Amino acid sequence: MKNLLSIEELTGGQMKELLALGHQLKAERGHHAKLPLAGQTWALIFSKSSTRTRVSFEVGISELGGRPMFLSTRDIQLGRGEPVKDTARVLGRMIHGMVIRTYAQQEVVDMARYSNLPTINALTDQEHPCQILADLLTIEEKYGTGAWKDMKISFMGDVDNNMGRSWMWAAKHLGFTLVLCGPEHALPSASTLAAIDSPNVICTTDPEEGVRGCHIINTDTWISMGQEAEKGTKEKAFFPYQVNAKLLQLAAPGHSVLHCLPAYRGYEITDEVLEHHADTIFTEAENRLHAQKAVLYTLATAN
Ligand code: CP
Ligand code: NVA
Repeated sequence: MKNLLSIEELTGGQMKELLALGHQLKAERGHHAKLPLAGQTWALIFSKSSTRTRVSFEVGISELGGRPMFLSTRDIQLGRGEPVKDTARVLGRMIHGMVIRTYAQQEVVDMARYSNLPTINALTDQEHPCQILADLLTIEEKYGTGAWKDMKISFMGDVDNNMGRSWMWAAKHLGFTLVLCGPEHALPSASTLAAIDSPNVICTTDPEEGVRGCHIINTDTWISMGQEAEKGTKEKAFFPYQVNAKLLQLAAPGHSVLHCLPAYRGYEITDEVLEHHADTIFTEAENRLHAQKAVLYTLATAN
């Protein structure tokens, strides 16, 4: 594995290996036998805001022996129009790996191609692969290794966003049932569903069907970064899909609620539900660190 650009291009086997390594690195935190990033500098190139991703990568790179270098695109020439391919070729001659948060998936693909460095997608408009690995790690920690296999996992709200798409590919590769539930216009397009081509990815516009019998209920902001102008019009259509205590009465006994955070209480999730599931949700946030260390470790030791 040279890069982590999407869940789409991972295999189920690679995902399982990353999860196993994530558990191991979490257990061995503070006393890793090997520091595969020793002597290396990894750049974090971010065009969008971040709390969890930035902190977890900076800490994770340091804990594996490397030096993280945070570069906001507001500060580097990329933000003033220097081409991605030129930026990538410069960095490729100086550093050892890149973590990129941006808008277009193609930018991450081009950075990887022109830098020839191990490259990690830290969120694009298309996918959020690191978050899905952390979410699966959290599910395994709570319910057992591979427990997702027999689960019905739901994603409520703005399902055709980066999180929803990464969940779809995870369902295809790992074989669990994924229920995507949101308003008609926000469901994945026929072409997306055709590309996923998986009988275990189910779409519904009925909020009750979205949670009925589900073991894991996910949600995310209705307004992803870059969509701020759509706030007023979008919110109205999404309120029936709010994850609240009444709807969760239909979920499977012992269910968990996940949220990648940041959460907007009173919109996609109520304060009551978020606080009731806070232990799982903040473990999910912590697991960004461990899952991403598994990715860094794997990329740094490839070949
Ligand atoms: N979940 C997530 O990616 O959080 P940040 O935007 O804070 O990095
Ligand atoms: N879908 C959200 C995820 C934030 C971590 C966004 O793209 O803003």
